[in-house]
Amino acid sequence: MVKRVRKCVVPAAGLGTRFLPATKSVPKELLPIVDTPTLQYIVAEAAHAGIEDVILITARGKTSMVDHFDLSPELEETLLSRGKVAERDALRAISNMARLASIRQHEPLGLGHAVLQAANLVGDEPFAVILGDDVIDAETPAIAQLVECYQRTGMGVVALMEVPVEETPMYGIAAGTMLDDRTMRIERMVEKPQSDPPSNLAVIGRYVLPPRVFDYLREVQPGVGGEIQLTDALALLAEREGLVGYRFEGKRYDAGDRLGYLKANVAFALKRPDLRQGLLEWLREIVAEADAR
Ligand code: UTP
Repeated sequence: MVKRVRKCVVPAAGLGTRFLPATKSVPKELLPIVDTPTLQYIVAEAAHAGIEDVILITARGKTSMVDHFDLSPELEETLLSRGKVAERDALRAISNMARLASIRQHEPLGLGHAVLQAANLVGDEPFAVILGDDVIDAETPAIAQLVECYQRTGMGVVALMEVPVEETPMYGIAAGTMLDDRTMRIERMVEKPQSDPPSNLAVIGRYVLPPRVFDYLREVQPGVGGEIQLTDALALLAEREGLVGYRFEGKRYDAGDRLGYLKANVAFALKRPDLRQGLLEWLREIVAEADAR
């Protein structure tokens, strides 16, 4: 009997150096996609997948991330006094999406180290992980697709995405045996292969993992800069207990990368009826202007 996935760890303690100077005092996870912080999309995704507890890994200077999910009585009061009931309700809903706990990662010692900070809060049950700067636009929340795969296979699951071969050096690449159209039993994972990638399936920021992964995280040796890599612990998990990859349905944006962030803004804005027409017209204009140059 596979246990229900009730908790989600969201690592959001990184320095966000690719986004300086914006991230000097604003966490990159709070930068808005249209008008909604990236982190809110992520917590909403976990909540839509039936997850009750979100464990946010934070760092010095990033407490505003937790504040975003608190109540804001003055703001609510003001909106109400102006008759903006729907806006007040939308604001209130942010605080009710999930129960939020946070824990500090004192030093940015890598994704594996970040996840390890949640070990006691997670306890002895399977848990989801969604990276704080990784957005997936999907009909069924991507993490729900992974939870379903975990329940079906009983093994840890990582999200897989097809990437062009020339982009494989930027990702962790997984290889193995396809069990069905979307599910792969992982036999090998190579971090950022500079040549001969074993496949074009990249591991991206969503996982459903058994609690044993914390033991593997304690076991792996820190690499460059003292960082503990989640990939190294996943390789141990794959070898000793089995790990599957799931080619999820949906469109993924790396909102921690400037180009990915810009794409996410345009794509999400085009889905808003109040913005779509104006944005499309302007995009056509600037594309034509750029082509003419
Ligand atoms: P990234 O590598 O994208 O984050 O990690 P970063 O280190 O902040 O990025 P740059 O390269 O300096 O711009 C993916 C997610 O993991 C978190 C980040 O906050 C991000 O949401 N992370 C990364 C941690 O929580 N702790 C770490 O030590 C590293």
